[in-house]
Amino acid sequence: MRVLGIETSCDETGVALFDTAHGLVADALYSQVAMHADYGGVVPELASRDHTRRLLPLIQQVLDEAGLQRRELDAIAYTAGPGLVGALMVGAATAHGMARALGIPVLGVHHMEGHLLAPMLEDEPPDFPFVALLVSGGHTQLVDVHGVGRYRLLGESVDDAAGEAFDKAAKMLGLAYPGGPRLARLAERGDPSRLRFPRPMTDRPGLDFSFSGLKTHTLTAIRKLEAEGGLDDQARADVARAFEEAVVDTLVIKCRRALDDTGLKRLVVAGGVSANRRLRERLESETHKRGARAYYPRGRFCTDNGAMIAYAGAQRLLAGEHDETGIMKAVPRWPLDTLGQP
Ligand code: KG4
Ligand code: ZN
Repeated sequence: MRVLGIETSCDETGVALFDTAHGLVADALYSQVAMHADYGGVVPELASRDHTRRLLPLIQQVLDEAGLQRRELDAIAYTAGPGLVGALMVGAATAHGMARALGIPVLGVHHMEGHLLAPMLEDEPPDFPFVALLVSGGHTQLVDVHGVGRYRLLGESVDDAAGEAFDKAAKMLGLAYPGGPRLARLAERGDPSRLRFPRPMTDRPGLDFSFSGLKTHTLTAIRKLEAEGGLDDQARADVARAFEEAVVDTLVIKCRRALDDTGLKRLVVAGGVSANRRLRERLESETHKRGARAYYPRGRFCTDNGAMIAYAGAQRLLAGEHDETGIMKAVPRWPLDTLGQP
């Protein structure tokens, strides 16, 4: 089955073609980052309009790369949520329009299920069951995964997501949007012994996260250094390092707990923050110590992309799942654990 995947939930237009017999055939991405950078964050209306401009040419690019005609597609999967409603509607309307014209099934996919299954596109994919740490700009969740659609939420952030916290701390340090990867780069030059930030909610049992206090702590540290006249380049790098260590350590502590609680030996890490080098280093040594193994998507499939949507959609379309004719889905808020098995 040849499935076209469409991702338009936020600020990346992603398109890919996944063939259930041959794997990933083609994928293309257009990032709107430069357009939103002037505003310091995603402007929803601009995002929707840009998806409208980029999506059809990107679909054509993927078909050309795959050497296929539209009529050779067997099904279409699109991100139905969670995300920005206007942005989601662009993908949903395009997918439904194309599917109706071609007379093929179409299915709205859960964005986080896409992230969660993204490591399945790699050469050595994890077997079920596994613990998944989903760390993106909008979500921080630990999930007990026993199969496609068999998700039990173990814990999640009660306020900011990890990626959001990275972006906000980066902004405080004067870094351009999206700050997460920039802050990580700055942190590489930081002295890890100079400042120590708190590890929120690690001193009590449970698997929930909270990152908003860390944000306040970062601002206070920056103000203090400024008042002392010492917020030079090195100090900014030291703050970045202390912040990154605090987030990474908190995530590692909770992953360790989740592996202990479930008795599982496989950990999947996905979503934008899974690209973070320091997080990967720490999780590698942690899993190695306990005879477990960590799995990640390749770099460009950590952040939003069409491939993960094509893959997740294909698993469900293969089982016969599809949207009702003419009922397109755009669901801004959609809890992952309400999904059923295909
Ligand atoms: O999964 P994603 O592309 O979009 C959402 O679904 O939200 O994640 C984007 C988030 C942003 O907050 C970005 O700053 C963060 O992932 N991110 C990183 C890194 N690369 C991306 N955060 C820390 N270190 C990185 N290397
Ligand atoms: Zn995402």
